[in-house]
Amino acid sequence: MESIVVKGGSQLQGTVATSGSKNAALPILISALLADGRHEFKRVPVLRDIDSTEQLLTELGCRFEFEDSTLTVHVAPPKSPVAPYDLVRKMRASILCLGPLLARYGEARVSLPGGCAIGSRPVDLHVQTMQRLGAEINIDEGYVVARAKRLVGDRILFERLTVGGTENALMAATLAKGTTVIENAAKEPEVVDLARYLKTMGARIEGEGSSVITIEGVDELTPGTHTIVADRIEAGTLLIAGAITGGGITVADCVPEHLQALIDKMRECGFSITTDASSITLDAIELWTGTDISTAPYPGFPTDLQAQFMALMTQAHGTSVITEGIFENRFMHVQELVRLGADITPMSQVAIVRGKPGGLSAAEVMATDLRASACLVLAGLVAEGATRVNRIYHLDRGYEKLEHKLASLGAGISRM
Ligand code: UD1
Repeated sequence: MESIVVKGGSQLQGTVATSGSKNAALPILISALLADGRHEFKRVPVLRDIDSTEQLLTELGCRFEFEDSTLTVHVAPPKSPVAPYDLVRKMRASILCLGPLLARYGEARVSLPGGCAIGSRPVDLHVQTMQRLGAEINIDEGYVVARAKRLVGDRILFERLTVGGTENALMAATLAKGTTVIENAAKEPEVVDLARYLKTMGARIEGEGSSVITIEGVDELTPGTHTIVADRIEAGTLLIAGAITGGGITVADCVPEHLQALIDKMRECGFSITTDASSITLDAIELWTGTDISTAPYPGFPTDLQAQFMALMTQAHGTSVITEGIFENRFMHVQELVRLGADITPMSQVAIVRGKPGGLSAAEVMATDLRASACLVLAGLVAEGATRVNRIYHLDRGYEKLEHKLASLGAGISRM
C-alpha cells in the first residue's frame, strides 16, 4: 500500500499553481447527462474521484477522452438509468446523478451511499427535493427509485444548507416544466460554477451565489465547453503549507476572494498576506499566534480546511478553539496529530489546540479521510524526523500531485 514520507524542517519558498476544483468538476461532469453529444471540460484535475465519476458516467452510456487536463465527454442515452452500489459507495457525490437522470429520462435508480467516515451524511434533502418537483420516490433494496413523467417546477426551501442538495435541485430544475425557486440555497463557488455550465448548455438560471436561485425550465439543453474554477481547498491547503513551515510562497491561478475566510483568519494570527486578481502571497514571518475558527457554509470558514488549519494551530503561540459546525465526527485527525506530539483536547464538535511551536516529532500515522490526509502531510512538514502517512489513497481522491507541488516549493516529500 502506498504511503507518503515527509521530512520535516524545510521552509517552503516559491510559486505553485492551483488545479481545477474537484468539488466543481464532479457535479459539472455529471450535469453532462442532461444533454446528448460532445461536452468539453478544461482544467479537470487528475484525481481518483474524477476516475470514479468517469466509471459512473461510463455505466450511464458516456464515453471519454482525456488529454492535458481537457476531458471530452460524449453523452448518449444509457441502457438503464441506474447508479449501482459499487460505484456510489466509492464516491458519495454519485448521488448527484439522481436529478439529471430523473429530469432527462423520467426515472432513476440510484444506490444509497451508506456510511461515511466523517459522519452519517444522509441524502434525505436530495430525495425530498425530487419529491417536491413531482417525483414519486421509493426505497427498494438500498436504492432510491425515482419516477416522474416530467418534473414540474416548484418552491424548494432547504431546511438545512446543503451543497450537493442545491446542485441536484439545480440540475433537475433546468428541464422541469415551469419555474423553480430554491430558497436557502448553498452559495459555494462550486454551485456557481455548475450554474455557469448549465447556462452554457442553455439553462435559464438567476441568483446563483445568493441564497435564492430561480430556474426557468427549458425543453432541451445542448452540450458546450467549460473551464473548471480553481480549487479553493487545494489553494488553501498550499497556503497553510507555506505558513506552517514559516516560509514565503505564492499560490497562483486561484480566486483569492473564494478564500477570504481563511485569509482573514491567517491575518488575525499575524501572517502577512497580499492578494491580486489570481494569486495569494504569504510572506515569511517568525512570530504569530493562534486564533479560533468555526466552520460554516460559504462564505464562512470551509469545513474542508478545518483539519489543515488545526495542523497549523499546533504550531501557534497560544491556544485556539476549533469548532466544526457542518459535520459530526470530523475530528478523526486529532488522534493522529496527538501521535505526532500535538496537544489537543477534542470535545464533541469543539477541539482545543494548545500550540507548541516546533513541538511535533515524526511518527507513522494513518489518513482517515481526504482532508485529514492533507492535515497529516502538513504536520509532517514541521515534525522533527520523517513522518510516514499511510492510506494515502484518500489524498489521491482529491489532491492533484500534492507531493510534487510541495516538493517544487522545497519540501522533503516522497511517495513510497
Ligand atoms: C460538499 C462537498 C464537501 C464539503 C461539503 C460542505 C462535494 C463533492 N463535497 O459535500 O467536500 O465538505 O459540501 O461544504 O462538493 N445533509 C443532510 N441531508 C442531506 C444532505 C446533507 O442532512 O440530504 C447534511 C450533511 O450531513 C452535512 C450538511 O448537511 O451535515 C452539509 O452537507 P452538504 O452541504 O450536502 O455536503 P455535500 O454536498 O455532501
